[in-house]
Amino acid sequence: MQTALVILAAGMGSRMKSDTPKVLHEVADLPLIGHAMKAGASVSPARTVVVTGHGAAAVEAVVAGLDPGAVCVRQAEQLGTGHAVDQARQALAGFEGTVIVLYGDTPFVSPETLQALVASSTEADVTVLGFEAQDPALYGRLIADGRDLARIVEAKDASADELAVTLCNSGVIAAGCETLFTLISELGNDNKSGEYYLTDVVGLARAKGLRATYVTCPEAETMGVNDRAQLAEAEGVFQARARRAAMLGGVTLAEPDSVYFAHDTQIARDVWIGPHVVFGPGVVIREGARIHAFSHLEGCMVGADAIAGPFARLRPGTDLGTKARIGNFVEIKNAVIEDGAKVNHLSYVGDAHVGAAANIGAGTITCNYDGVMKHRTEIGARAFVGSNSLLVAPVKMGAESMSASGTVVTKDVPDGALAIGRAEMVIKPGFARKLMQMLRAKKAKKG
Ligand code: UD1
Ligand code: CA
Repeated sequence: MQTALVILAAGMGSRMKSDTPKVLHEVADLPLIGHAMKAGASVSPARTVVVTGHGAAAVEAVVAGLDPGAVCVRQAEQLGTGHAVDQARQALAGFEGTVIVLYGDTPFVSPETLQALVASSTEADVTVLGFEAQDPALYGRLIADGRDLARIVEAKDASADELAVTLCNSGVIAAGCETLFTLISELGNDNKSGEYYLTDVVGLARAKGLRATYVTCPEAETMGVNDRAQLAEAEGVFQARARRAAMLGGVTLAEPDSVYFAHDTQIARDVWIGPHVVFGPGVVIREGARIHAFSHLEGCMVGADAIAGPFARLRPGTDLGTKARIGNFVEIKNAVIEDGAKVNHLSYVGDAHVGAAANIGAGTITCNYDGVMKHRTEIGARAFVGSNSLLVAPVKMGAESMSASGTVVTKDVPDGALAIGRAEMVIKPGFARKLMQMLRAKKAKKG
């Protein structure tokens, strides 16, 4: 049976108090809508429709970037969740299969839960995802009789008896495409909010003699983000899961609670990660690497048994070879550092290629930017770049070449050659003592 997704993301999210649409706020460097799409992708949907409204243009741009195949439809006025789903009617015309409705602000529905929902859809006409709420508050209540679902009642419209029910509606719902849109066209808005409630499709289905049921999941999966405090809570939930998954996958985290992962961080076994390491998006770390404390990595690849940090900054386009070594206060950007090469102290290497086993001395800078354009630096295998060298790009240092400390390298250095470019040093005997005497005398005179 094929599946299609409808993801609701038209709401304003006024409690975020933000100029950014709610579903574009990020957890683990991925907008909330991206988490919902990622969760939905686990059922391999044949079609994905995102319903946008507030901040539609911005949301649509992000959706297109994440999944060029997704279709966005606009809900001009937010007249309720049922009305929102109705906007997907055209985009799903001719689709024969199960439609799953997700919320763009609910990031953590698991693949297992969605599988259970799909499985239930082969037996029931409508399946709702419910959960036992710690505090049911404003959630819709599932009014069930055994496995049969009679209806969903919104908290606003519920009686005291109904409010006592703790089995709540997550908002996720699955139904056959034709059934769903037939039921939606029969929705009314005669309720306390004056909205077209998606939840009313359950009661309508039952009235037609169709079967409605529910599956449940842990409450943590259904957590929605409505304000910044819940956004931080969602981040916490994500990080706790990512840390645990990394450790169970064979990664040592010296102090797990201080390490931050992005949604797509990939770390191989036997990697060791020190305290206070932060991963931005697009990081891959291979077996046996060590990332020391206070390092920040983003868009980079760290080779097997490589070492980075403490206090390393690896920016996008960094590719560290096997056993490469990046030390403290070193920034690398858009640069390949081949196997066994070392950049151990206080350096900036950007737009560069550093050959295998090359040694980059302390304080080396690739001067890659002339104020208008970026230029490349090439450093050959086993080259030795002296401390405090400035490599003014575009420039090449050959294999096994050297630069003397303090050299400003402005010309290509052939293989095996030494570059030395600094003012000649002069010794003035006794001059230091004389100078100090002069200065002290001057100070004494002033009083
Ligand atoms: C909804 C459910 C409630 C459930 C709760 C779970 C309904 C009527 N109620 O209530 O049973 O317990 O979610 O969190 O469905 N949206 C649109 N267009 C609209 C209205 C909403 O796109 O016209 C989107 C919102 O952006 C949001 C989602 O639908 O992502 C849910 O809407 P919201 O108004 O927050 O519903 P709740 O009142 O929380
Ligand atoms: Ca809500």
